Amino acid sequence: MDSQSHYFDEDPTVPSENFTVDLVLPDLTATLRTSNGVFSSKRIDPGTKYLLQHAPLPDGTVKTALDLGCGYGPIARTLCQRFPEAQIWATDINSRARSLTIENVGKFGVNVEHPDDIDESIRFDLIWSNPPIRIGKSKLYTMLDLWLQRLSDDGEAILVVQKHLGADSLSKWLDKVSYNVQRLSSKSGYRLLKVTVK
Ligand SMILES: C[S@@+](CC[C@H](N)C(=O)[O-])C[C@H]1O[C@@H](n2cnc3c(N)ncnc32)[C@H](O)[C@@H]1O
Repeated sequence: MDSQSHYFDEDPTVPSENFTVDLVLPDLTATLRTSNGVFSSKRIDPGTKYLLQHAPLPDGTVKTALDLGCGYGPIARTLCQRFPEAQIWATDINSRARSLTIENVGKFGVNVEHPDDIDESIRFDLIWSNPPIRIGKSKLYTMLDLWLQRLSDDGEAILVVQKHLGADSLSKWLDKVSYNVQRLSSKSGYRLLKVTVK
C-alpha cells in the first residue's frame, strides 16, 4: 500500500494484486482470497486470529450475526462455520474488501453490504469485530456506538483491540456512554472485550 493509501479507503486506488491466505483454526481451515488495498492482505491479522481463537460462544441462540469491518472476511467465514443456522452480515466501507468478502463467503449466504445499506431495523445477537482503530478515536467511537446500539436485547459484541492502540480508553468510554464492558482475556498485547448494552 503506498503512503497515500489506507486500508479504510472507500475505493482503494492501489492496483489490486491478488493473493490467498490460509485461515487455520481448531475447527476450520479455509483459503481466503485477498488483495492489496485491504487490511492485512498477506496474512491473517494476529489480533483477528486472537479473537477467533478465544471468542466465547454466546449462551443464547444466535439468529443474526455481524462481522463489523469485515476486510476480506476471515471473521465472517468463521461465523459461518460456528453459526450455520444464523443469518450473517458483513460490512465494510472499503469496496474492494466487500468484493473479496463476497468471493470468500458469498456462497454461504452472507449478506455483504456497505454500512449505509444494512436495514436499520435489523438487530444483531452477535457482533464480532477487529475495529478500525486507525480511522481515529472520534470516528471509531461514532462507528462503534452506531452498531452496538443495534445489538438485540440479549446481544453481545466481542471486540479485539491492541492494548497500545487504546483498548483501555475505549473500554472506559464504552462504560461511560451506555455499555457493560468485560475484559475476557488479554495476551500478547491484545485485549478481548465483551460488550453488552446496559
Ligand atoms: C482492523 S480492519 C479488520 C478487517 C478484517 N475484519 C480482518 O480481521 O482482517 C478494520 C476494517 O474496518 C473497516 N472500516 C473502517 N471504517 C469503517 C466503517 N465506518 N464502517 C465499517 N467498516 C469500516 C476498514 O476498511 C477495515 O477493513
